[in-house]
Amino acid sequence: MSNNIEVKEIRNRNYDEIIKVFKNLSHESLRLRFGARINIEDYVKNLIESAYAIYGIYVNGELVGIGESYLLENNNDTVEIAIEIEDRYQGKGLGTLLLNYMINDLKSKGVKKVITYVAVDNCKCLKLIEKFKPQSKTFRHSYGMYYIEFDLSNISEVKRTQVEKVNEIA
Ligand SMILES: CC(C)(COP(=O)(O)OP(=O)(O)OC[C@H]1O[C@@H](n2cnc3c(N)ncnc32)[C@H](O)[C@@H]1OP(=O)(O)O)[C@@H](O)C(=O)NCCC(=O)NCCS
Repeated sequence: MSNNIEVKEIRNRNYDEIIKVFKNLSHESLRLRFGARINIEDYVKNLIESAYAIYGIYVNGELVGIGESYLLENNNDTVEIAIEIEDRYQGKGLGTLLLNYMINDLKSKGVKKVITYVAVDNCKCLKLIEKFKPQSKTFRHSYGMYYIEFDLSNISEVKRTQVEKVNEIA
């Protein structure tokens, strides 16, 4: 049976629904995403209050992944993004669908540039990002992370080839 996959902006920013995704992340996923231990409750409250747009990916109506975007303080047309997919749904194409949707939606909102930081050992995320052919990728020694930039006027869209893979989710 095929699964119903939906990606959309989470306009109601429901705390309980969003925090469920973060609480379902393994220690390894949290380490790759944040680098250090964080207080998840405080993090999600801040996300809800200060994000530019929050995106969700749903499998059969259940929120299983979050896309975050934040306007940079000194720059109104650049956003920093981050993504997290619950562990049991990783590696099935959902991250690709979510990032593709985010990039297109941010572009339609007038955002010109997207930036992100990715830990050097986050192979899955780096492979995901490379699929969208970023304009620059610089190693920041002080953070142990890559700093990656996308110019949205010149972004390559990954076609929805992932859908077949996603439909194999049990
Ligand atoms: C990084 C993350 C968002 C990627 O989402 P995902 O749904 O797992 O990604 P996808 O299934 O779309 O896979 C994207 C690419 O990653 C690579 N990949 C997938 N699974 C992999 C694995 N087990 N090992 C190595 N590479 C893998 C593949 O190249 C894949 O592209 P392909 O299917 O075209 O070959 C997700 O793994 C995650 O939430 N990780 C923990 C939090 C995190 O690290 N967030 C990113 C920091 S901002």
